[in-house]
Amino acid sequence: MNILQNWHKIPYLGVGITVITFIGLQAGVVIAAESVNAPEPITYSGHVARIINENCVVCHREGGIGPMQLTNFEQVRPWAPLIQLKVANREMPPYAYDHDIGLQDLQADWRLAQDDIDTIVAWVDQGSALGDLEQLPPPPILRDVDEWNFAAQFGQPDLVLASKPIDIPANGNDLWDKHFIDGGLTENRCIKALQVKPRGDAKSVVHHANTYFAEIAEDGSVDRKPVTEYAMGKWGEVIPEGVCRTAFAGTKIQWDIHMYPGGLGGIAPNAIIEDNVVELGIWLHPKGYAAKVTQDLKTYQLDQGDLFIPPHGTAMTQGFHSFDHPVRIDSFQPHGHLRMNAASLEIFYPATGKTEVISMISNWSATWHHSHLYDTDIAPLLPVGAILITKQWYDNTAANPNNPDPRQWVGWGQRTSDEMSHSWIAISHLDDETYQEILEQRESENPSGQATD
Ligand code: HEC
Repeated sequence: MNILQNWHKIPYLGVGITVITFIGLQAGVVIAAESVNAPEPITYSGHVARIINENCVVCHREGGIGPMQLTNFEQVRPWAPLIQLKVANREMPPYAYDHDIGLQDLQADWRLAQDDIDTIVAWVDQGSALGDLEQLPPPPILRDVDEWNFAAQFGQPDLVLASKPIDIPANGNDLWDKHFIDGGLTENRCIKALQVKPRGDAKSVVHHANTYFAEIAEDGSVDRKPVTEYAMGKWGEVIPEGVCRTAFAGTKIQWDIHMYPGGLGGIAPNAIIEDNVVELGIWLHPKGYAAKVTQDLKTYQLDQGDLFIPPHGTAMTQGFHSFDHPVRIDSFQPHGHLRMNAASLEIFYPATGKTEVISMISNWSATWHHSHLYDTDIAPLLPVGAILITKQWYDNTAANPNNPDPRQWVGWGQRTSDEMSHSWIAISHLDDETYQEILEQRESENPSGQATD
């Protein structure tokens, strides 16, 4: 899937994705057929440049977070064998989500279509040729690296709320900073989209940055509701049409920022970062936006009190949640640290005794946190009594490439070297009537799953 194009299409995404996938499949069929009859060499100009321009240069460009640039043939060619490996293993683009189990229609899905993967693999096998320059697509249009991710779609955010600046040393222990800033709203509004953006170099050292609408009582106690969650590599959140997730007026915003001095993963600068600021961008629906359904984002805990991973060992946690009203699961984002390497979301239906796998991420890594946004047409519906099951797996052996030290006992804790076990899940809360309406609408839809509205 094309990252930029994909985000652009969000209002029509159910249809957009289907169309792109369909064209992709057709192209794959044509290439395959041609290679049988009259083998046409796969070239950069004719086939590969388009894929890389649409899916890779957003990060692999000057000033981007990727370790090298991939904006033209001269830059791409030396990396061809490694590109082949990373693409074939589905490690790049960085969006870990199993393609052969669970719901596959996701918004802002960075995964490459199988025929694009096959094209890149074949290109490298055939010698990574440049090909006919006449066929070269125009150079990619590069947006400003500090641009908001939803700018092309929704324009600039209606509200930008910045954290107070913090200096981060080049190395040392984890740091946390919690503070309050003004919320900036005079009346409650419905949120359309959200992005949390560490400014400049801060993105390499901010492990997570959570925000809350916080009411501070006279006795100093704080009542808080999540605004959004950010963890390294996360793109943002879009709230489905017709749903209101409230931005509350008259509250403070509480920042809860976890920093990892020196940085994490391939983009670690190991340098002092002064005036680290994280920004929260909120796009709002117009005043008076009519929505029947309310959504909230919360953490759902697994049995992390019991999470203890022995040296050179493994562990697994599970959480079970049910609701006294029907709900729709709009997004799923498992959270853990350096030992966590897999996560899943399942639904158990006591009425039938069946369990359905909704999402499986069997190659999870703390360097990329994604909120998997289900297409509204297929977002899972839970009848009253159904049970949401979250599972997470941990690998404390030397075989885990993220593991800083397999000799340590690891338990639950706030530090990056500790572990966590929870999921952030955005849930639309439905009344019986709306639940029935959605069910009926889905039943009347055509078998390809396209929305009829
Ligand atoms: C969202 C940003 C992003 C996108 C999109 C992305 N990359 Fe990357 N890529 C990175 C980062 C960051 C790293 C280094 C850290 C890591 O491996 O996670 C990396 C690492 C790599 C590496 C390994 C480099 C090394 O020295 O080990 C290759 C090869 C690569 N990317 C190719 C691609 C290709 C090909 C695409 C598109 C099909 C792509 N990437 C899309 C951000 C991105």
